[in-house]
Amino acid sequence: PPDIPVADVQAQLGELQRIADENGGNRAHGQPGHKATVDYLQSELDALGFETTVQEFSADGDTGWNLIADWPAGNANEVLMLGGHVDSVPNGPGINDNGTGTAGLLEVARAVAEQDLQPNKQLRFAWWGAEELGLLGSGHYVQNLPAAELDKLSGYLNFDMTGSPNAGYFVYSPEGQPEGSAELTDTLNAYFDTTGVETELIDLGGRSDHAAFADAGVPTGGTFTGAEGQMTEEQAQKWDGTAGEAFDGCYHQSCDTVDNVNETALDRNTDAIAYALWTLATS
Ligand code: PHE
Ligand code: CA
Ligand code: ZN
Ligand code: ZN
Ligand code: ZN
Repeated sequence: PPDIPVADVQAQLGELQRIADENGGNRAHGQPGHKATVDYLQSELDALGFETTVQEFSADGDTGWNLIADWPAGNANEVLMLGGHVDSVPNGPGINDNGTGTAGLLEVARAVAEQDLQPNKQLRFAWWGAEELGLLGSGHYVQNLPAAELDKLSGYLNFDMTGSPNAGYFVYSPEGQPEGSAELTDTLNAYFDTTGVETELIDLGGRSDHAAFADAGVPTGGTFTGAEGQMTEEQAQKWDGTAGEAFDGCYHQSCDTVDNVNETALDRNTDAIAYALWTLATS
């Protein structure tokens, strides 16, 4: 698997910050910065050779968009999906939540294209709208996916908040998730083993976009570096963080800017996406 240059991921966070700055300070559902983000990502992915689709939906009286990007290779009957939400809250630019997952996925997609990867499984990337209104974009996608298409999904990996400033290293717990989820968890953990970073399993319940896939029986997994919760003493020691402080003190606030990102966590989590994709989709 490739080592994704973290400087390239940071450059994309700069683009997302610029888009927010030029559109009233956020990238939220119902605001111009949301569509501007989707348009920007689509043009990048089109240029890389992905087959992109923008799925429109309506929520809270406003139009929202999901961006889907398929890599035209591999067995179309076995699809590995990877995604994260592309909307911010109205309070701010949403750079850690979820510019980090958004940019990480884009840079992994770029690596796929640059290697002209010929995986066994088909790869499908997704950037979801209206997560912050209650997981609406991913819910819309899953609800409108024909059963035959749903059956082709071998797994869904979710990345929401992967560069929290006081970073924890959490991998989604497979407990209570569809059969097959443990393989996704084990693969992500295998990446962190190579870095010597200890992870913790976390039960996120229905707090992010994997929920609709899990409800539909698709194996799910993902990584997370923490939100409003406070880091314990024990976690601070193993993760070189600050005990008694939030993982992300700017969670859902205007200060969630390009300055609100732990570059080491961003680097590791983006490399984890690439490792999982290469491990699960190539032989
Ligand atoms: N989904 C929540 C949000 O975007 C936060 C969160 C992210 C919770 C990841 C759990 C896992 O605000
Ligand atoms: Ca890297
Ligand atoms: Zn629709
Ligand atoms: Zn959020
Ligand atoms: Zn989020």
